[in-house]
Amino acid sequence: MEGTITNFIYLICISLFIIGLKKLSSPDSARTGNLLAAAGMIGALIVTLITPLPDGDNNYPWIAGGILVGTIIGLVAAKKIKMTAMPEMVSIFNGLGGACAMLLSIVEFYNHPSGEPLLSGQIITTFFALFVGSISFTGSLVAYGKLDGFLRDSLVPPAPKVVNMLLLLIILTVSVYTMLQPELNFTYIMVVLILSLIYGVTFVTPIGGGDMPVVISLLNSFTGLGAALAGLIYGNQVMLVGGVLVGAAGTILTMLMCKAMNRSLLNVIVGGFTVSGGSTAESGDQVAKVATYADTAIMLKYAQKVMVVPGYGMAVAQAQHTVHDLEKILEAEGVSLKYAIHPVAGRMPGHMNVLLAEADVPYPKLLDLDEANREFPSTDVVLVIGANDVVNPAAKTDTASPIYGMPILDVEQAKNVIVLKRSMNPGYAGIQNQLFFGERTRMLFGDAKSSISKLIEEMNNV
Ligand code: TAP
Repeated sequence: MEGTITNFIYLICISLFIIGLKKLSSPDSARTGNLLAAAGMIGALIVTLITPLPDGDNNYPWIAGGILVGTIIGLVAAKKIKMTAMPEMVSIFNGLGGACAMLLSIVEFYNHPSGEPLLSGQIITTFFALFVGSISFTGSLVAYGKLDGFLRDSLVPPAPKVVNMLLLLIILTVSVYTMLQPELNFTYIMVVLILSLIYGVTFVTPIGGGDMPVVISLLNSFTGLGAALAGLIYGNQVMLVGGVLVGAAGTILTMLMCKAMNRSLLNVIVGGFTVSGGSTAESGDQVAKVATYADTAIMLKYAQKVMVVPGYGMAVAQAQHTVHDLEKILEAEGVSLKYAIHPVAGRMPGHMNVLLAEADVPYPKLLDLDEANREFPSTDVVLVIGANDVVNPAAKTDTASPIYGMPILDVEQAKNVIVLKRSMNPGYAGIQNQLFFGERTRMLFGDAKSSISKLIEEMNNV
């Protein structure tokens, strides 16, 4: 009877996860979706905690200690973290999910009763969880370093492909050999653990430059897989379904990111190293034309159609609210303003959508890459706000460029392009951008937020 009630509550929690996930697909219902999924998770935690374990020892003091330490670290981190460092934080959380699956597997091996057969579904699953969890853990740490910028691609030379293949082969061989022994040898488990942790590093280091969005979503799906495997080990349905949902969502996101980068997954993983700065698009003695606030304000006021292209720099400047103010002023003047959203703009999937939703920009104003590219030829002014790689024409023309082949926003098709950034410095991929020297392009140097505020001031004077 007790088991039936537990399973029934688990079923309700699972339904909450699924409904919550569905609601996350629209900005209007995303907040409710988040709350529903969180309620499902709290329910699952409470039921799991109060369900007595077979040996009757639920270890409550340890659990309470874990919750206390985790809550303190989580609260402090969430309060201290800058909005611009959210992608790094998401990466760390992802890695911790993997570390959980890894630690659970180690505990399971440690508690494996002596004399029980080793070649079983349970042990195979535990090995798999150890492997996937470890890759997700160290891989996410490397991704964190790359996003933060302290692990530059040029600083972390990739291991030759043969090293990765060799590591995989040794991990597989030691795992199978361990399972064929009469008794579990913990030393072999440690060998598999250490090699898997190393593999996480060597797997992610070669993926650099513009391919990071793919690896981030891939690691996300690994963490989901790790959680699902842990659910299998413990026979816990809610953990299994939660993990499957994360794994499936991560896999779909990986496919979408591959499409956005115009790369196959295999090509990203084994396609070699793209060191930032490898492009041949040199600025040479070309000079970029500089815009003034007054001219830009007049240009905007007399335009009919304006397109904003936000990028990572908008997140750094936290300019989304000021951009929305500019949108309202222009619309009051009868100017139509829309936003062109590149799928990998910023540093995490959906980064620009989240920022603009936070500033209450209506969702129908956001155009995806294909829609925006159809609109550029009839657009009077494009405001490129802290975007760089996603508008770099080298992706179409320069075969040596690390972003070659990535579909970009064709802003150069518009009548006028104003680029708001602080300097001529490159973006994430570390390459020069020929757009800045284009015939129709003007640079408006400065922090994006203060530049837009100045533009608004000028517009009031026009
Ligand atoms: P980036 O190419 O990184 O360019 C951002 C630009 O913003 C920089 O050139 C910088 O120039 C400018 N900027 C920085 N702070 C600013 C401020 N306060 N005010 C004004 N401008 C500022 O950005 P993007 O075009 O959005 O492209 C995203 C890149 O990140 C792609 O290469 C993508 O592959 C990669 N990436 C994406 C993800 C995901 S999932 N979206 C994850 C990892 C990597 P200044 O320094 O001169 O101001």
